[in-house]
Amino acid sequence: MRIIAFYSPKGGVGKTAAAVNTAYLASRDNLRTLLWDLDPQGASSFYLAGAEPVKGRKLSKLLEGKSPIARFIHEDVYPNLDFIPAHSSFRNFDIKLEQEHGGSALKDLLAPLSEDTSLVILDCPPTLSRLTEQVLDVADKVYVPVVPTWLSLNSWDQLKEFVKDKKLGVKKLRPFFSMVDRRKNLHRDVLARDAE
Ligand SMILES: Nc1ncnc2c1ncn2[C@@H]1O[C@H](COP(=O)(O)OP(=O)(O)O)[C@@H](O)[C@H]1O
Ligand SMILES: [Mg+2]
Repeated sequence: MRIIAFYSPKGGVGKTAAAVNTAYLASRDNLRTLLWDLDPQGASSFYLAGAEPVKGRKLSKLLEGKSPIARFIHEDVYPNLDFIPAHSSFRNFDIKLEQEHGGSALKDLLAPLSEDTSLVILDCPPTLSRLTEQVLDVADKVYVPVVPTWLSLNSWDQLKEFVKDKKLGVKKLRPFFSMVDRRKNLHRDVLARDAE
């Protein structure tokens, strides 16, 4: 089982769009795929469930071990694509992770999935939190959308520093330009500098 995450400390840069589309394409290529919407705002839940609100089960039950992770999974939202929707209690994920487990909580939660799942995709909230640290630790690759602006490049540099500091493995970070608009001078300038 491979675990990949879409993460950036910035919001609105295309994490969810990339996560949902990658999950769909992987499932269409016959990989048993699970997308987990870790963002309490529930954007990927919205993409996958349309306008219907998705009922997530309470996170505390999962973290206390009262409910196995399998009970949170919506199976086959598309063929080969399973989905764990967001729940508003995910906003407390960090605190709960600390209380109920230690540093390996996310890893422990994901472990039982390895029997049926080839690819786990984590759609992350734009926070630099303990949850993020665990995501950065557990993921085999972390895809980081970068909108071509100087500010976004700056936060990409900050993320690299953070990952280096915490020894989470900077090599697993995979930045990619997102939402490029070649009509904008700024975007063209940033892309040109990157190509140098
Ligand atoms: N590659 C893209 N091209 C154009 N618009 C995009 C692209 N990726 C995302 N968007 C749009 O930008 C907005 C923010 O994207 P989203 O994936 O929700 O960002 P994030 O998850 O980083 O907050 C959404 O309205 C989305 O439809
Ligand atoms: Mg998002």
